[in-house]
Amino acid sequence: MKIAVVGSGGREHAIIKKIKENPQVETIYALPGNGGIAADATCVAVGAKDIEGIVKFCKENKIDYVVVAPDDPLVLGAVDALEAEGIPAFGPKANAAIIEGSKVFSKNLMKKYGIPTAAYETFDDADKALEYVKTCPIPTVVKADGLALGKGVIIAMSREEAAEAVRSIMLDKQFGASGNQIVIEEFMEGPEVTVLSFTDGKVVKPMVSSMDHKRAHDNDEGLNTGGMGTIAPNPYYTKEVADTCMEKIFLPTIEALNKEGRTFKGCLYFGLMITKDGPKVVEYNSRFGDPETQVVLPLLESDLLTIMQATTYGTLEETEVRFMDKKAACVIMASDGYPEHYEKGYEITIDDEVSNMVFVAGAKLEDGKLLTNGGRVLGCSGIGDTLEEAIRNAYKVVDKVHFDNQYYRHDIGQRALKA
Ligand code: AMP
Ligand code: GLY
Repeated sequence: MKIAVVGSGGREHAIIKKIKENPQVETIYALPGNGGIAADATCVAVGAKDIEGIVKFCKENKIDYVVVAPDDPLVLGAVDALEAEGIPAFGPKANAAIIEGSKVFSKNLMKKYGIPTAAYETFDDADKALEYVKTCPIPTVVKADGLALGKGVIIAMSREEAAEAVRSIMLDKQFGASGNQIVIEEFMEGPEVTVLSFTDGKVVKPMVSSMDHKRAHDNDEGLNTGGMGTIAPNPYYTKEVADTCMEKIFLPTIEALNKEGRTFKGCLYFGLMITKDGPKVVEYNSRFGDPETQVVLPLLESDLLTIMQATTYGTLEETEVRFMDKKAACVIMASDGYPEHYEKGYEITIDDEVSNMVFVAGAKLEDGKLLTNGGRVLGCSGIGDTLEEAIRNAYKVVDKVHFDNQYYRHDIGQRALKA
């Protein structure tokens, strides 16, 4: 089988390494991939948002199955375009990917179907939003409607900050057209849990839960980032919480999307907060999380490609999704200065014995050398019987990866250990 994976991050590298375990897979193409992914797949210079280019490549090269990993191409209709040409693909169609593509849509969906989430108001008029924040409860959370590279959420601790957020999103268009509408919602408190789940639109099979570490520095200080590390499973996701989530959130969401004529197939990401009133949805994503994937997939025992195809063909019910009874941790090694200013172009070396647990994101190949080429450079994962051991193993991998100007958090998993 010939497989194409759309995307270029650590998440895509983890997906590719897992798909490679299927003996029927002959070739994997990464569109566009990166210099580190090139060790595991054939990288092709087609951008992840170039839907026409993706379809053309897959047609010409008779690709048997395509995995569309990032949000942008899903929202732009990559799966629709591939299926129109008879090429099966993993991921939701555009009309279902909107659950990530529009926060106004997802909040209204949750309200209509009684799915627990923060109370909210939506606005398409800046004056009305500015009027609202004069009296709403504080702290409050201001969110741009559309995709904003994970940066479109502002937690406002004062009325001034809330008004400033409204102005920067709606008037200064900090996130472009993504800010034409906004959601202003209730500030929730409690531990956060990510649950990635496979669904074919009929059944939902959750993967092992995980915990992201979004802040740049130790002790959850510093700026928000794309994620500096993850652990799995998440200790706050108890059996009781999991049962509640299945009954009140996961199944109702799949049902709601079906009722709206927007059947979701692929990986549905539930960003949850365990509040004192029970689990509530913080956000949905229409794809695997990054760097959650780098701890979840190493624990997957069943065959990933088989499961992905089952979501496409509607046979997930009879397909096994089994995880090891172990723990995993992933430490992101970034360029010093990320998420603000940082330098690129430093040579990376990875000792052979750990390369299987290294997932490369921001790197390029030049004259046979792997060079840093982004803020988040790569992720180092470890597995263990206990969380302590998994964390230790992840940091052992870090010690065997070398590049100058590196930065990583030293406390990945510490909060989970204290839970
Ligand atoms: P989102 O992109 O919607 O996941 O938001 C990014 C992050 O902002 C989340 O992971 C939470 O840490 C935080 N956040 C979002 N919405 C809320 C909320 N209503 N209350 C508290 N924190 C929130
Ligand atoms: N780790 C958060 C995300 O993938 O959106």
